[in-house]
Amino acid sequence: MDVKESLAAALAPLCGVDADALNEWFEVPKNPEMGDLAFPCFRLAKTLRKAPPLIAASLKEQLTLPAGIAKAEAVGGYLNFFIDAASQAGSVLTEVLSKGDSFGKSEIGRGKTVCVEYSSINIAKPFGFHHLPSTAIGNALYRIYKALGYNTVGINHLGDWGTQFGKMITAYRLWGDKPIDDYSIRELVALYVRFHEEAEKDPSLNDMARAWFRKIEAGDPEALELWSKMKDGTIREVKRTYRRMGVDFDSWAGESFYEDKMPAIIAELREKGVSKLDQGAEIVDLSEWNMPPCIIVKSDGSTIYATRDIAAACYRKEHYDFAKSLYVVAYQQDLHFRQFFKVLELMGKEWVKDCVHVNFGMVSMEDGSFSTRSGNILYLDDILDAAVEKTLAIIQEKSPDLEEKQSAAEAVGVGAILWSVLYNNRIKDVSFSWDKILNFDGETAPYVQYTHARCCSVLRKTDGFDYSAPDASLLCDPYSRTLLKAIEAFPAAVVSAAEKYEPYVVSRALMNIASAFNKFYYEQRIMADDPAVKAARLALTDATRQVLKNGLNLLGIQAPERM
Ligand code: ARG
Repeated sequence: MDVKESLAAALAPLCGVDADALNEWFEVPKNPEMGDLAFPCFRLAKTLRKAPPLIAASLKEQLTLPAGIAKAEAVGGYLNFFIDAASQAGSVLTEVLSKGDSFGKSEIGRGKTVCVEYSSINIAKPFGFHHLPSTAIGNALYRIYKALGYNTVGINHLGDWGTQFGKMITAYRLWGDKPIDDYSIRELVALYVRFHEEAEKDPSLNDMARAWFRKIEAGDPEALELWSKMKDGTIREVKRTYRRMGVDFDSWAGESFYEDKMPAIIAELREKGVSKLDQGAEIVDLSEWNMPPCIIVKSDGSTIYATRDIAAACYRKEHYDFAKSLYVVAYQQDLHFRQFFKVLELMGKEWVKDCVHVNFGMVSMEDGSFSTRSGNILYLDDILDAAVEKTLAIIQEKSPDLEEKQSAAEAVGVGAILWSVLYNNRIKDVSFSWDKILNFDGETAPYVQYTHARCCSVLRKTDGFDYSAPDASLLCDPYSRTLLKAIEAFPAAVVSAAEKYEPYVVSRALMNIASAFNKFYYEQRIMADDPAVKAARLALTDATRQVLKNGLNLLGIQAPERM
């Protein structure tokens, strides 16, 4: 039970209100000198038929202060409480240091499954900069839900089906000059571009492409082999990029996976009278909801993106029995999601209420470097490489003696990129500049990572000094208290991030901790002469190190010990 809960329990019988309800009433006074928690008595005025200041005064009279509360003061209509700083410091330190890597974790999701679909790149297409938000946000949500005890399923819904694969095979058979396995994504993209150029001059290429796609659909061995080798090659290549970003998936079931699950869905839509024929196509009319129709089967008999999403949603429900199914996909697809969610609802799938389109804004570079205009595409790997290279230059200047410069630069450069889409409300468009994201003194991943490394460095220099039994009453100065409060807020931030599908709640919490630590570091001598003070400050440094490491880990960002 935390102090707020014990206060609520002590107040409940005096107020005639349930303790759980009271727990939600507390406010935090704007001015910390007024106390740490404020209880608004005007909410009781009606039932107790008394003026709020009188209620505050009489509650103060009657209440026996629970442990952890130093004093209470009635001010106007509020009863303000002052938390006993020493016992708060003690409980925060014990909590963090005893839980270690588990601090921030919980079991609230036990027994529930959450599907998180993210990244969802397209085969034989660039793994581009525009995939960054989905990949980073989805990975963070995946890790956050896992930390909360949910059974999590990370899904990469690969774009691995469609007529473009007929074009790829046509191009490869005409101009390919080595085994298809040896093609990098960039080379496959070049083949694709060439196909479009040549098809302008010779439209018959398009007929060949259609024929090849039909062969893939019909299971022709040569067509299938080329298709699957292209797919394997792309996956092999993107896995390297994912590894750099701490990203992994439990399932790579892409669009093609649902091909054989489509007929049942189409039949169900017909039987339930949800779909109808319209000029040779099968559609679901959504005009009643002010949306264009959702096309299920085109007039040429082929299914489309939406059909596969309907099949995928049903499959995930059946196979994983999710409590929640998240789709981390750009807001450009808002309409698509509203359409197929509505179709699922019309099919009577009441669980569609648990499907959430976790949308996000666009990313771009402020200074226009890496411009896409000249036709070159922004590959995510190139951005990561550039970030690492620039970071290496900074590290070479800041820490010339560091041995593991390259691995630190990799951790920090990639971290900076991930953080750029994890530090704001996800729907906001982000435009970043190198100066901003690599600023070691700004609100950046490098700043948080640097603070973590600073904690590690302080702790390395203790020469075996034992700080395992700190006297927390020595941490009541304002700098220590602000830091302790920031650390204490971390577990609730993890829960709130999951509830809102917003990793920034975690990154902001980390930022608060890091900046509070740096103020503490500059204002208080950690290696104080008094061994008891030194032990308490080292324990607080260790707790800071631990929580920063845990938080960065939830965001998929590394926490190097030296940088
Ligand atoms: N592959 C698609 C794209 O790159 C994104 C897929 C989104 N997920 C989904 N279930 N529709 O645009």
